[in-house]
Amino acid sequence: MTASLPNFQQVPHHPIPTSLIWRNNRQIYITGPSAAWSRTKFCTWPARPLSSAERVVAQAKRHPHGPLWAVLSGRHDCPRHKDHGKATMTSVLETLTNQGWALIHNAGFTDGSDVDYRVVERIASRYGTASDRDGGQAIWPVTPRKSGSTDTFSVRAGEARFHTDAAYRAEPEQRFALFCVRPAEDGGASRVLQARKALSGLPAEMSALLRKPVWRWIPPATFGGEPDIPRPVSREDGRIRWRVDNLDVDSSLRSVATDFDEHLDSHPDAGEFVLGTDSVLICDNERVLHGRTWFSDPRRLILRVRLVIR
Ligand SMILES: [Fe+2]
Repeated sequence: MTASLPNFQQVPHHPIPTSLIWRNNRQIYITGPSAAWSRTKFCTWPARPLSSAERVVAQAKRHPHGPLWAVLSGRHDCPRHKDHGKATMTSVLETLTNQGWALIHNAGFTDGSDVDYRVVERIASRYGTASDRDGGQAIWPVTPRKSGSTDTFSVRAGEARFHTDAAYRAEPEQRFALFCVRPAEDGGASRVLQARKALSGLPAEMSALLRKPVWRWIPPATFGGEPDIPRPVSREDGRIRWRVDNLDVDSSLRSVATDFDEHLDSHPDAGEFVLGTDSVLICDNERVLHGRTWFSDPRRLILRVRLVIR
């Protein structure tokens, strides 16, 4: 039995007698009394397996030639939780409109170790079409794997200053989602700042320069591609693109950039929070700047999905 379930842990002290119950991230496996097996879908998430498990075991006992394994799938297969997903989606879209970013907790894609990528794809698809333009994969693991000071944010540890994703592309994706598998043990908090707040109260000269199409970025080496033409940082309709570390500008603009970066970093309206395991941040990439505080924990793992919505 263990040989056929190498990655599963037996649930200790489970009160259902004569049965062995195993679980991984999203599924509970229950041994029944016969040698055949079948798949039965029940709602067991979060950690609410007993009543469903008892029904499966009772069913198995009534049918001695029935299932050996009863598979209780997670909430993404449960009709009731599909309704819950729709309610969450409505709430997230409202919050995105009003606030520019939204959080989903207990999303059901990870236990901090295993990841159910189908759930990641399903949640992401509610908020846009996944883009694999940078890196060639729609679900991009943001985790330390390089140590160079010039490596892009998503492949190294450390701080990420306020920025918008893909500022170096002609058409940045309009949204992105961050799925937290494991937060860092020593920082790595997410930071968010609405563009309209970031741009209000600036010196007139800086404001005017940020509206001019004179800002140009070099794509990170990890993603490659040619530099875009110069673009404005801020637009009349409230959209923004920004990133300070890979600007390709002259020294006078670089000085303005440094001042603007400091203005963002110390902004009193900047929000900061730790994205916990199994939580998702959905963010408007055109109206909200984001960043992260310093961390070094090599086990931190966030899955990023950039999303196109038009
Ligand atoms: Fe980012």
